[in-house]
Amino acid sequence: MSRPYSFNRRDFKAIQSLVYERAGIALSASKDAMVYSRLSRRLRVLSLSTFGEYIEYLSDNDHEMQLFIDALTTNKTAFFREEHHFSFLKDWLAKQSTSVTIWCAASSSGEEPYSIAMTCEDAFRKTNLGYEVFASDINTAMLDKARQASYSIEMLEAIPKDYVKRYCQKGKNKNAGLFRVHPTIYANTHFFHQNLLDNSWSLPTKLDIIFCRNVMIYFDKATQTKLLKRFAEKLKPGGLYFAGHSESVMPLCDHYSPLGHTIYQKVSG
Ligand SMILES: C[S@@+](CC[C@H](N)C(=O)[O-])C[C@H]1O[C@@H](n2cnc3c(N)ncnc32)[C@H](O)[C@@H]1O
Repeated sequence: MSRPYSFNRRDFKAIQSLVYERAGIALSASKDAMVYSRLSRRLRVLSLSTFGEYIEYLSDNDHEMQLFIDALTTNKTAFFREEHHFSFLKDWLAKQSTSVTIWCAASSSGEEPYSIAMTCEDAFRKTNLGYEVFASDINTAMLDKARQASYSIEMLEAIPKDYVKRYCQKGKNKNAGLFRVHPTIYANTHFFHQNLLDNSWSLPTKLDIIFCRNVMIYFDKATQTKLLKRFAEKLKPGGLYFAGHSESVMPLCDHYSPLGHTIYQKVSG
């Protein structure tokens, strides 16, 4: 099929280098069509006719650079995705005697951190323990969506029935077909922009748990190894790390011991 915007191998290579440098995302050559389709929209909006012009435009435009990153990140997520992690979290929370702090390090449009917050709220609702969920992502459009805390009611299917009753408010009139996350859940979930590649992370404290799921797969082994070490430094002794189902930890970093189901515990030392 002919392409309305001129896009050659050199353009692809330039984009591949930029997204690797800026976001750590290692795009294979097979992603050529994906890159074309996602960035064509930007060329259309900017009335440019070649990818060469777009790359030139990007080079001194921070705002466009963010839109470029937003376009090239993949944001697939869901409430209670990989449900076994939430059953584990629920059991772990039941054993706690102090408040907990959790970081969701690639929070996309918010479904994951809100699932974590609902699980914490429910586990602690009859105690005087508190919890905070810090939720970050590199994608600003996804963070905006997450902060709206409003989702299609079809997504309620994935949320445990008790939590739907307690923590999801169905919309009426112009909001029919949507639900909103309960204000208590919202108030305990703090969204912020964070590129995992940045030299320092804006986290106020040491963490009990880090969820970093389904993002390491986009990074190369060197980046994954570096991040796993930095995550371990951010965890309290004995803190937990939740990885995505196809993400490996043990061959890359010996700061953790496996607890099963891609959950790892920081080992001391
Ligand atoms: C496939 S989604 C996974 C979302 C969620 N963790 C889950 O498992 O459902 C990957 C997320 O990682 C984010 N991401 C990619 N590169 C990143 C980086 N360098 N720093 C922070 N977030 C990044 C993307 O914007 C995207 O929202």
